[in-house]
Amino acid sequence: MTRDLIAPSILSADFARLGEEVDQVLAAGADIVHFDVMDNHYVPNLTIGPLVCEALRKHGVEAPIDVHLMVKPVDRIIPDFAAAGASYITFHPEASEHIDRSLQLIRDQGCKSGLVFNPATPLSYLDYVMDKVDMVLLMSVNPGFGGQSFIPATLDKLREARRRIDASGRDIRLEIDGGVKVDNIAEIKAAGADTFVSGSGIFGKGCAEDPNRYDTIIGQM
Ligand code: DX5
Ligand code: ZN
Repeated sequence: MTRDLIAPSILSADFARLGEEVDQVLAAGADIVHFDVMDNHYVPNLTIGPLVCEALRKHGVEAPIDVHLMVKPVDRIIPDFAAAGASYITFHPEASEHIDRSLQLIRDQGCKSGLVFNPATPLSYLDYVMDKVDMVLLMSVNPGFGGQSFIPATLDKLREARRRIDASGRDIRLEIDGGVKVDNIAEIKAAGADTFVSGSGIFGKGCAEDPNRYDTIIGQM
């Protein structure tokens, strides 16, 4: 039985006090740190790179760091993130010329690997690489921004992904990313997810003033 994991997306954190915010959500019960990397090319936004991942490690973050690459190309940045302390590295199949090679590269660098599926990307990308995947990440919004609404069709896709993972008999996490909040997480879990990314559902809700708010929100997830 896989344990459910809560993965706050630091995209919605206060970057001026990132280390402190990450410490606070982990102390409140979050399990892994979701780290969104955007390149203003594959997605229309620009965020953070390996230096910030390394800075979190130097700050003392020991929890797994779940690097979600929304960049193209993917291969040349993978070793940099592995060296910076990434635990998981996931990428979008449309952004890689050679999906099998990119997955293998992630594992060769000592990290766990994963594929990310946009709302309209078919799960058939998994067909010949199931043995090279440690995580399947379904996007429940189009990638690029926090604070969007959960796309309901993702629930059926989650059920299908859950069937595929169970049928494989492999130890693969099923992560969901986009519009996950306290009030819809139960339905999303029932559809088969075991790893829950939430950005605007956790950060920026008066927690800077009162960190106990994180305990309340994460406790309800
Ligand atoms: C969107 C990112 C998400 C984002 C989720 O492209 O991949 O991780 O931070 O934000 P919320 O939870 O606010 O939808
Ligand atoms: Zn993400």
